[in-house]
Amino acid sequence: MTSKQSHRKDEHVSLAEKFYQQDTQNGFDGVRIIHESLPELALSDVATQTQIGSFHLPYPVMIEAMTGGSPQTGRLNDQLSRLAKATGLPMAVGSQSVAIREPELSATFSIARQNNATGIMIANMGGNHSLAAAKAAIDMIQANALQIHINAAQETVMPEGDRDFHWLSNINQLTTNLDVPVIVKEVGFGMTAETVTKLIETGVKAVDISGRGGTDFAKIENFRRPNKDMAYLADWGLTTVESLLEMRQLSTRPVIIASGGIKTPLDAIKALILGADCVGMAGEVLHHLVQTDLPSTTQWLQDWLAQFKQLMLLVGAQRIADLQRVPVVFDSTLVSYADQRGIQ
Ligand code: FNR
Repeated sequence: MTSKQSHRKDEHVSLAEKFYQQDTQNGFDGVRIIHESLPELALSDVATQTQIGSFHLPYPVMIEAMTGGSPQTGRLNDQLSRLAKATGLPMAVGSQSVAIREPELSATFSIARQNNATGIMIANMGGNHSLAAAKAAIDMIQANALQIHINAAQETVMPEGDRDFHWLSNINQLTTNLDVPVIVKEVGFGMTAETVTKLIETGVKAVDISGRGGTDFAKIENFRRPNKDMAYLADWGLTTVESLLEMRQLSTRPVIIASGGIKTPLDAIKALILGADCVGMAGEVLHHLVQTDLPSTTQWLQDWLAQFKQLMLLVGAQRIADLQRVPVVFDSTLVSYADQRGIQ
């Protein structure tokens, strides 16, 4: 017998894959890197490693929060954590609130830590949970950090979703009292400078702007509604690129993770040029796992990372920090967005 929450986890996975689109417009098409014909570097000169806070990463890339909470999604966390171990990338598990309520489901999350004893593992839960619940989520996977997701748009369309979005003071409680770093993340709707400023003022030091352009939870939750009557909210939110432009407005810069529609190494390079410290992929990784198997997905991700390094060479970036100096131009839609939002 699976609970309603547990069943929802399975539906999210199957619907994310159902709505997956290879050639979706993810917003990165509006950013063009200016080609330089003389990089004056060799691949052996290029270093992909980066340090974020106290974490050393082999690439500025992570596997994003997706799942756990049902037998099927426990198997996915099993595979995702093996993928994380094989590539050395950090990995977040999906929302653990289901396992706080139903502790017998904890194993569908803790399997990730069992498989990857020394990797960077990130816990995940919503913005309304207590300090005790957050500590339990961290303990469940011996997490190195906690993601707090803020997902008002998703909850709005979710038939059984929350209807109370008072999160800031609770986020302050969690950020102030936990021993591990806290990352506040969206789930594919993007963040404005105003949102991130409020988070910074409440003590948050890292955000995952998770923008529109990939997995669309307005679409997924609408499909779960009996009448499917909120289809009009599909495509709600800011793209990942727009969210990154928003971050230029900030006077205090947090750690910025960019997820939402990252599919190719070129998307990742563009996100880092636009100011992200790290990128995250959810739907794209899930798609490969669901369509193929773990060995093929591991090979795909290793090839992806090798190509990422080649693109660093192509744009003349010897170190990750050099990417922020690579020139780009924006299409007229993005220029108009920046103008109207007063972004320089
Ligand atoms: C997610 N995402 C997510 N995020 C989160 O903070 N907690 C969660 O439990 C989940 N669950 C979840 C399930 C599935 C099946 C997917 C595909 C995604 C959101 C995810 O971390 C990310 O923010 C968005 O999916 C945008 O990234 P992509 O998918 O476009 O790469």
